[in-house]
Amino acid sequence: MLKLLFIVGSLRKDSFNLQLAQAAAKYLDGKVEVKFLDYKDVPFFNQDIEFPAPPAVMAVRKEVFAADGIWIFSPEYNHYFPGVLKNLLDWLSRPISATEGNVLGGKPVALSGITPGMSGTCMAQDHLVTLLSFLNMKIMNVPRLIIPNALTQLDEAGKLRLTTSEPFLKAQAASFVKFVEGNN
Ligand code: FNR
Repeated sequence: MLKLLFIVGSLRKDSFNLQLAQAAAKYLDGKVEVKFLDYKDVPFFNQDIEFPAPPAVMAVRKEVFAADGIWIFSPEYNHYFPGVLKNLLDWLSRPISATEGNVLGGKPVALSGITPGMSGTCMAQDHLVTLLSFLNMKIMNVPRLIIPNALTQLDEAGKLRLTTSEPFLKAQAASFVKFVEGNN
């Protein structure tokens, strides 16, 4: 079964982006294997501690290596993507050893994001596209998912309940499965 790894660019417990990723995982249930990357213990990147890689870094590299595709769900912070995600990608961008490359090159990747504001993470995603292209990842540029005004799609308890955005998330999930299958 195809293996997708979800990376959420927010560490917040009630993150809208986490909830968006959980909704996508629900649509994909039974069709592909979905894992969520736990990277909260990855330290700040520092070349002084790069080799040997800290255990938390080795663990995330293993997860990325094993995945057929990566789906990033990220908020936008100050028109950029959050520093925790940049830190993770910096670690993942580095070679595993003197003879091995990094785990990101050639990997298919999809981008989605949701925000209470108007931008819908559009600018953060554009910055991600620049970075992920440089890292030689295979970006699914169409469709990307950009969801503004998150507060209009909440239930009574304040949890994300997609209405207008639901068909777009489903369509992106179906497209990404095809995109990743085409890469295998
Ligand atoms: C934000 N937020 C935000 N929203 C946006 O649409 N564009 C932006 O540039 C920013 N900038 C920004 C900076 C910082 C430091 C914070 C903490 C927040 C609001 C942000 O979208 C909101 O807090 C989301 O709920 C964060 O995503 P999660 O954690 O819900 O997934």
